[in-house]
Amino acid sequence: MRNPIVIFCIGMTALLYYAMEANNPAWSGNGNLCVDDCYEQTVEEEGTVLEVAQAKREAKKKASPAELGKEYYAQCIACHGAGGEGGVGPKLAGQSVEDITSKLSTYRDGGTLGSQSALMWSVAKPMSDKDIQNLAEFVKTL
Ligand code: HEC
Repeated sequence: MRNPIVIFCIGMTALLYYAMEANNPAWSGNGNLCVDDCYEQTVEEEGTVLEVAQAKREAKKKASPAELGKEYYAQCIACHGAGGEGGVGPKLAGQSVEDITSKLSTYRDGGTLGSQSALMWSVAKPMSDKDIQNLAEFVKTL
């Protein structure tokens, strides 16, 4: 009665052991892990994880305010449209840098502009002055 269970357990253990030993991505689920030669090769092509992070930081420093704003604007598209044409929220395209910065600052401070300002409070709350400036610079390009 217990034999089939014991055999099954031994079989599974053997299978798992083999999969780990072979480090076959298809078996061990390590599909994203790059080890040994593969790791060396990746480092040669892209640099170490730290170098990649450093390069990203450098690129970010060099990006213009409008480019940084564009990145941030990904969160706004659902309501204001990819081109700032409006939708759930008002049209942003065509508004000046001063308009956008002052409106976003108002929302960040919990101020009311229209009847649906509450929707913008949580959006604007985490913004830094720099974020607001960048967003305004990007909206200007729309
Ligand atoms: C959940 C939908 C939603 C998201 C996401 C959203 N907004 Fe809004 N936004 C609105 C609504 C609704 C209003 C109108 C609020 C009011 O009545 O004062 C508004 C108003 C604004 C206004 C004032 C426009 C005007 O002319 O009165 C600005 C500027 C603005 N949003 C910028 C942004 C930016 C930048 C983002 C992304 C970081 C963003 N919004 C994300 C819904 C959204």
